[in-house]
Amino acid sequence: MSTASLLETRGLTVRFGAVVAVNKVSVRIDRGDVVGLIGTNGAGKTTFLNMVTGYLRPTGGEILLDGSSTLGRSPRELVAHGMARSFQVPQLFPEMTVREHLLFALALADGSAGGLLKPLHSAQRQARADEVLGRFGLQAIGERPVNLVPQGQRKLIDIAMALSLKPKLLLLDEPTSGVSSAEKMPLMEVVFDVIRASGVTVLFVEHDMDVVRRYVTRILAFRDGSMIADGAPGDVMRDAQVASAVLRGKAPAALAKAGAA
Ligand SMILES: Nc1ncnc2c1ncn2[C@@H]1O[C@H](COP(=O)(O)OP(=O)(O)OP(=O)(O)O)[C@@H](O)[C@H]1O
Ligand SMILES: [Mg+2]
Repeated sequence: MSTASLLETRGLTVRFGAVVAVNKVSVRIDRGDVVGLIGTNGAGKTTFLNMVTGYLRPTGGEILLDGSSTLGRSPRELVAHGMARSFQVPQLFPEMTVREHLLFALALADGSAGGLLKPLHSAQRQARADEVLGRFGLQAIGERPVNLVPQGQRKLIDIAMALSLKPKLLLLDEPTSGVSSAEKMPLMEVVFDVIRASGVTVLFVEHDMDVVRRYVTRILAFRDGSMIADGAPGDVMRDAQVASAVLRGKAPAALAKAGAA
């Protein structure tokens, strides 16, 4: 078995003109980690995920998945290497039903060996789609086109599709954004039940510090493209730079708990 970290970035950088959106970020994520990525708006969190998942080419640095460079690989190739993601705004097909989205993800999960050539609606895939619908509590809306589905459930569909790819590394970009505060924890409970059962390694971007605190084993904090902290949740949340740059004005309950931890 490989001793390399599941994901490693070394000096990862991208510039957009004069803006250095991600600046020399070096991080290692090991198997079984559940890492929260926090930072204010515009800190570079989504841009970092975009580079790791092959949607954006870095201008500097390296990305290693299981010890091998991923530079130049497409998002599709990286899925085949065990990486899956969800989006800050879910990328779904408005006219397709919830079930059809899952069938599509399951076809992709069948891999390059003709996964998409087998009938999309085969009985075997339908049975697997039923299983996923059940696991994510989406049975009642399985036949509904996604443009008629509320935002919280759209986020869940996007995450269910990513998990259907059976990734080694799952990256979630703000799984609870646009979801009402009452729905946030139930949504995360469903998602984390599946994550725990599968043992997948997770990196997720999240603004809600109560959500972060509840699920992560480690926190990375970004400010203005740079990583300003990486460590145990209590330590990062007590860090003076993080407290002033990231946590100010957020979830007083989470801060109080961090102080008490
Ligand atoms: N394609 C692009 N072209 C130019 N600038 C970009 C591009 N994508 C991102 N940026 C800039 O890079 C910086 C980081 O943006 P990014 O979307 O990664 O932030 P974020 O931490 O995900 O913020 P949020 O919490 O609001 O989602 C911002 O200054 C943003 O304007
Ligand atoms: Mg973002």
